[in-house]
Amino acid sequence: MPEPLLRVAALDAHYGDFQALFGLSMTLGQGEVAAVIGANGAGKSTLLNAIAGLIRSRADSIRFDGQDIGDEPANRVVARGIALVPEGRRLFPSLSVEENLLVGGQLHRPGPWTLGRIFELFPVLGERRRQASTSLSGGQQQMVAIGRALMSNPALLLCDEISLGLAPIIVRDIYATLRRIVAGGTAAIVVEQDIGQALAIADRVYCLQEGRVALEGLAGQVTRADISAAYFGV
Ligand SMILES: Nc1ncnc2c1ncn2[C@@H]1O[C@H](COP(=O)(O)OP(=O)(O)O)[C@@H](O)[C@H]1O
Ligand SMILES: [Mg+2]
Repeated sequence: MPEPLLRVAALDAHYGDFQALFGLSMTLGQGEVAAVIGANGAGKSTLLNAIAGLIRSRADSIRFDGQDIGDEPANRVVARGIALVPEGRRLFPSLSVEENLLVGGQLHRPGPWTLGRIFELFPVLGERRRQASTSLSGGQQQMVAIGRALMSNPALLLCDEISLGLAPIIVRDIYATLRRIVAGGTAAIVVEQDIGQALAIADRVYCLQEGRVALEGLAGQVTRADISAAYFGV
């Protein structure tokens, strides 16, 4: 049995005295997509930030591609092939669209993603490459954030609420693009409060509640009722 691409084991996370994650475990195979669903404050961003190295943890609580990486800083984690699309996008406001994308590619990890490929994926970004990222619509800014993450040629893409605040038709487009990205073999963890899109793209589902996994299963096997119960804790 080959080792999974990602194994989170007994992960705790604290902010000062406050404990945000309690012994959290999850597994993701090569090229798989996991949806992480949960209410505001459940610990979804903390989990992604821990995997991405923005929050340090015990080395062996996060294992990726055969290595314990829980104690590694974010730049090392990016170099290993994990890229985060952060909550709220966090674009560099003083930089153009193209410059924001190039920031994501500065480690020059080998792989298929180049500026040209990002502009094929999101043609509107090619048209607006010289514009300030702040002059774009919310949906276009989300495309820049996704493109910036892809520029590091990740084996695992972490998406933190990429649909937040966007119109349903834009969300549908972004998820259609995400489907193309994962069809190319990139694994992903998709964090959402809105379960519809995330469930449709996922192989596995994890519902978080107050820092713990309240429900996990194969996407085809957990029902909406199961998820609602785990989500609302009823
Ligand atoms: N920087 C921080 N300092 C203190 N508490 C935090 C911080 N970030 C998150 N928290 C707390 O940790 C818990 C989980 O937060 P978060 O991971 O952001 O949840 P989610 O992404 O599911 O909304 C919440 O109770 C939140 O208030
Ligand atoms: Mg969050």
